[in-house]
Amino acid sequence: RHRIILDCDPGVDDAIAILLALACPEIELLGITCVTGNKDLSFTTNNALRICALADRSDIPVYAGCTRPLMGPYQRKWPSVHGTDGLCDLDLPGKPGVLVEEHAVDFIIRKVLAAPGEVSLCVIGPMTNIALAIVKAPHIAPLIRSVVFMGGAAFCPGNSGPLAEFNILVDPEAAEIVMSSGIPLVMLGLDVTQKVRIGEGHVAALEQAGTAAAVAIGAMLRAYGSNDPCLHDPCAILYYIAPDLFSGVEAHVRVLANPTEARGATVAAVSERHRDGRPPNCLVVTDCDVEKLLSILVDRMGDG
Ligand code: BDR
Ligand code: CA
Repeated sequence: RHRIILDCDPGVDDAIAILLALACPEIELLGITCVTGNKDLSFTTNNALRICALADRSDIPVYAGCTRPLMGPYQRKWPSVHGTDGLCDLDLPGKPGVLVEEHAVDFIIRKVLAAPGEVSLCVIGPMTNIALAIVKAPHIAPLIRSVVFMGGAAFCPGNSGPLAEFNILVDPEAAEIVMSSGIPLVMLGLDVTQKVRIGEGHVAALEQAGTAAAVAIGAMLRAYGSNDPCLHDPCAILYYIAPDLFSGVEAHVRVLANPTEARGATVAAVSERHRDGRPPNCLVVTDCDVEKLLSILVDRMGDG
């Protein structure tokens, strides 16, 4: 059973990832930590609480983390596709619980120290909380089992700049701290997540499944306003439960943080020559079995 902390910025696809994690017996969700990303921290924390309530899982502790990227104010230059509140302004069932008082960064440090080598961090928003935890307590880095993250674009264009993916571009300095931490990394970037698009058939199947979670996912996806939207963040959860349905390449990945048009780019050196003596630090996932993954999602969300 994977013991994970889910670090997120819900966000529609984050919300789906949370609901999927809650529906998977292979995953023990130790807590949800939130960060400013798709929306400000106050929205993302509230949305995490709303999603847990919707799934009748308000027992899952939710923590507020960083209010802004490490090096400066959050740049509000990207239009939001997640509505005003981050979850498409829908009325969701359930009464949200309350935030835990402890800061997300302290929770991450405490949990890793309590179970050395066992806790994996699943990161589906900007990496600010993880980077700050590593900076505050560098001794936790070798004790973190892995960081499985949605972010970056190794061999394809970005979605928030010519080369940059949103989560990395929001806080490139944080991402670079995580990349150079020595923690085993699995990157589910746009290379793979852009292939995982959910179409009408699967949305209808979710609606028919009729569970509160499946119906809410259907409503969010319809309100999202894009045809066949990409399920970026759920890919990270699916990786834990069906790693064999993904494939990729070991690489040495760094993040460019200079203030140029390349800011936020993830540079993946694959061959021995390009790595220049540096060993791989990351499995860059590039492909997956989309149909099988979508079936898993629909099946899991329909159980309940
Ligand atoms: C990522 O950006 C966010 O908008 C999504 O939630 C996802 O984590 C995709 O680039
Ligand atoms: Ca996200």
